Amino acid sequence: MIEVVTRKEQELFKSRVQEHPSYDELLSQVSLLESMVAQREAQDENTDAALLYRKLFEQMLFEVHIWELVRNQEGEILSWRLVGANPAALKTWGKTLDEVKGKLTDETFPDAHAVKQFLPIIRKIFQESVPQVWESYFQGTDQVLSMISIPVGERFISCGVDVTPLRTTERELLEKSRQLNTALSATINSVSRTLGSGDPYTAGHQQRGSLISEKIADELALDPSTIEGIKQGALIHDIGKIAIPSDFLTKPTQLSDMEFEVIKTHTTEGARIMADIEFPWPIREIILQHHERLDGSGYPSGLKGDEIIMEVRIIAVSDVFESMVSDRPYRAALGMSAALEELGRGSGKLYDETVVSALGRVIERGELHL
Ligand SMILES: [Fe+2]
Repeated sequence: MIEVVTRKEQELFKSRVQEHPSYDELLSQVSLLESMVAQREAQDENTDAALLYRKLFEQMLFEVHIWELVRNQEGEILSWRLVGANPAALKTWGKTLDEVKGKLTDETFPDAHAVKQFLPIIRKIFQESVPQVWESYFQGTDQVLSMISIPVGERFISCGVDVTPLRTTERELLEKSRQLNTALSATINSVSRTLGSGDPYTAGHQQRGSLISEKIADELALDPSTIEGIKQGALIHDIGKIAIPSDFLTKPTQLSDMEFEVIKTHTTEGARIMADIEFPWPIREIILQHHERLDGSGYPSGLKGDEIIMEVRIIAVSDVFESMVSDRPYRAALGMSAALEELGRGSGKLYDETVVSALGRVIERGELHL
């Protein structure tokens, strides 16, 4: 304990003990010594903590700046003035501390229009008295910073990380992804049209089916990526028919059991054709499952209920509906109301009730023009 007390304090302690050698006084002096030691230890701890924070502030790679609010007479925040900034911030700004300390933000960064851009955020920080995380593009510096701002009395500390390269890469990747998806959609559309070109009864069937599927998916408020997958899947769901003799597909009379068994293979054939192609949507499953029915009576696997993906439950309804409202080799087209009535009879058994209802609402609003 003595080691942490200065020589002067040791002398003071000795003199007091020598002057008042009573036991009580000795105890009181011991107590004094203990409080001196405790005080010194607390001071040392504070000094250590301040030193550590100072080092952290100076050495960290992230920008840290401390600002003081400037308010009008009514107490409204108008701007903020720089109190301090760490070397990382000064390096980014290309300024020395002397050049910026005490200056208003718009004086230091006139091109950034910081007050105009960030006043709502700064006001929010002080209204709510909680740190706010925000991200912004800084005009004039071409920087995107991810910031955390922490209110401390009439000041706030902002710590920023430059995420410009990250956001630039994200933007480029998004653009590339958009271009790829556009090319993929165009390819699918082209394949779909080619598929229908040799068969007058299926020409346009998939395009119309895709349109109906999209309307239903929109009505069900599915997310944009799922809707896109449904559109694309509907366009190409019958691709397996390419492997079926065209005589079977266009036969104007009832198919024999054997012929029907052959036609049924267009689901597995389609999935096989697409087996090695990776799509951002479940295209292969759509092709494979599109003749499955809720009660397990479909093909090729007799899947039931939720085993059938939502994309397929929509495409199945639009596919059947589109067939019913079109002329077929063996019968004339039904009207939309009759077709919907027919679908209604299978609703909940063969077809998803929510999907049939959604199609009903779309037709009722007159939004389907085939
Ligand atoms: Fe089919």
